[in-house]
Amino acid sequence: MNCVIIVGSQWGDEGKGKIVDLLTEYADGVIRYQGGNNAGHTVMFEDKTFVLHLIPSGILREKLSILGNGVVIDPAALLEEIKQLQEMNISVRDNLRISNNAHLVMPYHLLFDQLRESRKGKQKIGTTGRGIGPTYEDKVARSGIRLGDLRNSVHLKDRLSKIIEEKNSQLRHYFGAEQRCLNSGHILDELQNHFQELEPYLCDSAQLVNDQLDAGKNLIFEGAQGTFLDVDHGTYPYVTSSNTLAGGVCTGAGIGPTKVSHVLGITKAYTTRVGSGPFPTELDDETGEFLRSEGGEFGATTGRPRRCGWFDAVLVRQAVRLNGISSLALTKLDVLDKFEEIRIAVAYKLADGTTTKNFPTQQLDQVTPIYETMPGWNCSSQGIQQSDALPKELIAYIERLEDLISAPVSIISTGPRREETILLPSAPLMNL
Ligand code: IMP
Repeated sequence: MNCVIIVGSQWGDEGKGKIVDLLTEYADGVIRYQGGNNAGHTVMFEDKTFVLHLIPSGILREKLSILGNGVVIDPAALLEEIKQLQEMNISVRDNLRISNNAHLVMPYHLLFDQLRESRKGKQKIGTTGRGIGPTYEDKVARSGIRLGDLRNSVHLKDRLSKIIEEKNSQLRHYFGAEQRCLNSGHILDELQNHFQELEPYLCDSAQLVNDQLDAGKNLIFEGAQGTFLDVDHGTYPYVTSSNTLAGGVCTGAGIGPTKVSHVLGITKAYTTRVGSGPFPTELDDETGEFLRSEGGEFGATTGRPRRCGWFDAVLVRQAVRLNGISSLALTKLDVLDKFEEIRIAVAYKLADGTTTKNFPTQQLDQVTPIYETMPGWNCSSQGIQQSDALPKELIAYIERLEDLISAPVSIISTGPRREETILLPSAPLMNL
């Protein structure tokens, strides 16, 4: 039995989709445990590019794919994704399972997400507009609707009409948006239609996951977003509304921490961020622009240009600690191929003039990174599949990062395709 958690160690978009897809070959199932269709996991193989927003990437290899209780589900978006996969002849019906307890993203959650963001003006979070925050709010406020709740239509009708009454009152009186008021009858009809299509996939996902572990299966838990978008440990309030850390697996999938065998942190060889919030190593110049164009740094979900900057070792070292990362997959090294010199943030200068190697949990917008410069390799590393074929400057860069962040690299990604990868013996699931 192996239980591998895969998490992003920066602000998301580290290339988790590719690594999950790659390791799924050696696994029996893949589980998502938090977030919703705010995620965008890009996987490329056989000259096709797949972008999955909700369904775990394991589905592409037709392995058991579970949406756990901690995920929030927009039923229309999920059905659309199922349809697209089926059109590509991928067997979804046999492989996808969804938790009865997963909360639904309702039409009013989408509406509130968008209205709140526009009301915040300059202080907006820069959300994906998928209704994620409002859905988790209602979950915690105990006024959410779970997929399994759709089984009891009489009870649902009653609950929904009370919820809509409250939402309409906010639309009218707080947002001044009388014209956006909702009709509970329409919403109920739509939900019931969605439910008919989704019911065959529903299950007690915690039981299924634990049965799999008891049967000695190898499972991958696929994180969405990244460490610093975690609602507790991220750059609050510029975060998503779930626990993106490895610890989120225990509650979001229903397993105990003693089951976890490996936490794999996915780390880009530089840093990117979408949406608002502090970003110490951000490059607001032609170097940042170069990283964006070389790396194709545009959001897989919203198409927004990603903010780009140098690798931040202070940030990733904190991620190693918060997640208990066992090893790292380093992605997009080839994007740095054309640089004469590469910089790494090794410490921060704080507003009071002192320096620190520890990640400050407050006032991150006031730190100045202290950089170390390394020689670039200045040649193509794209597609290299053997570690001894890597340029020596690139190996030195990796070794320096390992040293700074106190974790070993077990996977090196040299391009977007499955085969453009170096899997070291220390990578999870390699010694089965
Ligand atoms: P929300 O998750 O849509 O509420 O957005 C909150 C913040 O998380 C925004 O800054 C988004 O850009 C960011 N975010 C959400 N999902 C992702 C993701 O999959 N990758 C990168 N950033 C994300």
